[in-house]
Amino acid sequence: MAKKIRIGVIGTGGIANGAHLPGYAKIPDECEIFAICDIDSKALKSTSEKYPDIKHKFEDYKKLLDMPEIDGVSVCTPNYSHCHITVDALAAGKNVLCEKPIGMNAKEGAKMVEAAKKSGKFLQIGYNSRFAPTNQTLKKFIDAKELGDIYYARAQALRVRGIPGWGVFIDKSKQGGGPLIDIGVHMLDLTLWFMGHPKPISASGVTYQKFGKRSDIVGFMGQWDYKNFTVEDMAAALIRFDNGATIVLESSFVANLKEDHQNVTLLGTEGGAEAYPLSITQERHKSVFSFSPEMPNKNINTHAVEMASFVECIRDKKQPLVTGEHGLMVAKIMDAIYKSSDEGKEVKIL
Ligand SMILES: NC(=O)c1ccc[n+]([C@@H]2O[C@H](COP(=O)([O-])OP(=O)(O)OC[C@H]3O[C@@H](n4cnc5c(N)ncnc54)[C@H](O)[C@@H]3O)[C@@H](O)[C@H]2O)c1
Repeated sequence: MAKKIRIGVIGTGGIANGAHLPGYAKIPDECEIFAICDIDSKALKSTSEKYPDIKHKFEDYKKLLDMPEIDGVSVCTPNYSHCHITVDALAAGKNVLCEKPIGMNAKEGAKMVEAAKKSGKFLQIGYNSRFAPTNQTLKKFIDAKELGDIYYARAQALRVRGIPGWGVFIDKSKQGGGPLIDIGVHMLDLTLWFMGHPKPISASGVTYQKFGKRSDIVGFMGQWDYKNFTVEDMAAALIRFDNGATIVLESSFVANLKEDHQNVTLLGTEGGAEAYPLSITQERHKSVFSFSPEMPNKNINTHAVEMASFVECIRDKKQPLVTGEHGLMVAKIMDAIYKSSDEGKEVKIL
């Protein structure tokens, strides 16, 4: 039997406990969670109690990286620490699955991509939506040219009342921004992948802060500290690409909408598609038909597939589906949108 891949998880908060640890624990024949780490002793203790078989526990991530037995590391800490922990992990010879976004900005993202190149190990970014069976199926239609050339897309990650009440999600200095960099990035990454990653050339963006500082807004995701809310609560952008295509992106933590929207809409010369729920539209006999698949696994946990894929890439020495370069492209677009919003004009992306 092949050797089990040994995994270290840095940061044992929401995403580690909700996705990474259960994802790895689901494939015990393939991998072993060898060590965990959190600077917060309480978080470390409560996770240790849930996973008593994990032998090594640290408050300093560098001690975890010092373990030669570890093959791959999940970086599950807040955005402001993605860059230095990932760079250190790669330098220590570990493959890295870093949670999204790649870093606080493109400068950090570029450092992380460079560190992966130097190390000979790989960097995967946690855009798990790509692993959804419905999105994998849609990508097959696109790659078979059944939608023709995709020239326009709309990416939406809109919450009605969804400011996270935990962590540092409302602190621009630690998070880099608000819903755009937290949830908008998921739908943007998915759209870029569907479109085959054309080169972005410019973005025109706007951000708004209309609700986050109000004490009377009821949170559906816990109560945040409205006095220290420093990020946008809604953002929108038009992104242009060198092949003439455009993406319109909308993202909110709070908006006066009837309901939340998470979707990607694609318009192509031969067909169109909606990702959530998946439907494909094509012209047939001078009529327009839309159809949706029956898929038994359509509600599968995409995080579990993501962890399994990370382990498989380490074992089989393969490149991941979501690369550091893909994460960097998203970060460049984020930077341009925030800059465009600050300057009130379209901004070039180099
Ligand atoms: N892919 C997804 O769908 C998804 C969902 C939620 C969060 N995330 C991402 O995961 C990351 C973490 O989010 P979360 O909700 O788990 O936050 P969280 O605040 O619940 O957990 C973060 C944990 O990291 C620990 N930590 C901070 N600095 C550390 C360090 N230097 N070394 C070790 N531990 C450290 C904190 O003490 C905390 O326990 C963010 O980047 C977020 O964008 C991704």
